Amino acid sequence: MWSLLLFVIIGLFGSEISVDALNCTIRPKGNPKFPKNFKFGVASSAFQIEGAWNADGKGLSVWEEFTHKYPDLIKDGSNADDSVESYRLFDSDLKILKDLGVDHYRFSIAWPRIFPTGSVHLRNQKGIDYYNDVIDKLLANGIEPIVTMFHWEMPVELQKFGGFSNSLIIEQFLDYAEELFKLFGDRVKTWLTINEPKELCKAGYGNGRSPPSIVAPGVGDYLCFTNVLKAHGATYRMYREKFYEKQRGRIGLPCNVNYLYSKANNTDEVAKAMDFEFGLMAHPVYSKTGDFPPTVLKDVEKNSLAEGRKRSRLPRLGKYWTSVIKGSSDFLALNYYTALQIEPLAGQVNADPLFDDKDSSFVTSMFENCPRAASVWLYFVPQGLEDLLKYIRDKFDNIEVKITENGWSDAGGRDDYMRIEYHKNHMQAILNAINDGCNVTSYGPWSLMDSFEFTMGYTEKFGFYAVNMTSPNKERTPKKSAEYYKKINYEKDLYV
Ligand code: NOJ
Repeated sequence: MWSLLLFVIIGLFGSEISVDALNCTIRPKGNPKFPKNFKFGVASSAFQIEGAWNADGKGLSVWEEFTHKYPDLIKDGSNADDSVESYRLFDSDLKILKDLGVDHYRFSIAWPRIFPTGSVHLRNQKGIDYYNDVIDKLLANGIEPIVTMFHWEMPVELQKFGGFSNSLIIEQFLDYAEELFKLFGDRVKTWLTINEPKELCKAGYGNGRSPPSIVAPGVGDYLCFTNVLKAHGATYRMYREKFYEKQRGRIGLPCNVNYLYSKANNTDEVAKAMDFEFGLMAHPVYSKTGDFPPTVLKDVEKNSLAEGRKRSRLPRLGKYWTSVIKGSSDFLALNYYTALQIEPLAGQVNADPLFDDKDSSFVTSMFENCPRAASVWLYFVPQGLEDLLKYIRDKFDNIEVKITENGWSDAGGRDDYMRIEYHKNHMQAILNAINDGCNVTSYGPWSLMDSFEFTMGYTEKFGFYAVNMTSPNKERTPKKSAEYYKKINYEKDLYV
């Protein structure tokens, strides 16, 4: 309620466009209609919605292990064992997808559901049948499946060998991806490889807040980045070599990016900080030269040597891998939620031993003048999306961008007007960017329905549909935002 009020006040009185006094709402610029071929969809992920954690021969992932072992680390002590039961209730999901009128549905495949130990020599046919059914039903209803291969469900058996901290994962992932192409590639034409490398690597292998809970900031996260990039690059090359001719699909790496604004309005600061925020994932894939950004390579090496180490904590990709990874995506898949402000770290002491921005040498802060969602990290800053899209246009040769996530959390309830404002403003940001020459072709917000929000359990809700968690059939009901988004899908026009 308070944030809505604040939002209305800001909407009425805020007018500056400058970055240091960033206005929270966005102003329309140019053509108010989306291009005819622009696609609208919606997103989810397997672990967050499927439930059936051990049904029909499914193996375990690190997230099941983590939630079972450490319920105290989940805000409401819950887990995703049943969640909203999409494994059993996919037909209910299909119904709301149809109701919403989306062009595409982004969902993920749980690796251990189809290969219980991760290794492809042991397959679980029932898991395969489930995803075949999902894909077939989507297509029969005119909804394109966009499939994420890995949304953080590392099979426990592979984590035993270090997961993304061991280069062994590259061939394991490659085998898995090859099977996915064989099993589903006749019908799936848009693939996303590894969801949000930055979140996966920082939380899993840097500050250790998520499984596999490895605490090694500035070492484990970099190791993870290199293996993620190699697994992604190798998958792309393998697809091109073995499958593309027949299947004609496209592949992207879904990157999570906060747009960064310098408190001092200093463009050099932004350029450097964005190299750490985004370049670590994107520069090796989308830049003309490939490899990590030169500033990142230089600064991490400098810091590592100053620490008395023999070499950089950021492993070099080397000539071979640099060329495999360079250009290994057909589009840039972008997950955008919010923007941050940065200022130089110089002179400031950061006592947090898990502080993982040492190398970038910036400290970040939130746009606290803008409304905040239920998630502590999520502020309402749509201008950041417009500016990020322009950054991509200029930095990465105007590559095609698909927005694969964007969403607003609240504590629940169907009168979710802030969610409507959030999506409306972010779609406006996209439209402004398109009107300014950016090559954005689709919008796939998070999320279809309320689901398990990892360490936040069920306390933060992102869905267009609410789920009745106490009823046996977990009915899905549209919120006000579903009614709004539905109109957008039918009209392709923001002002309906
Ligand atoms: C990013 C992740 O991909 C998704 O799984 C998560 O629920 C949302 N962000 C919201 O935090």
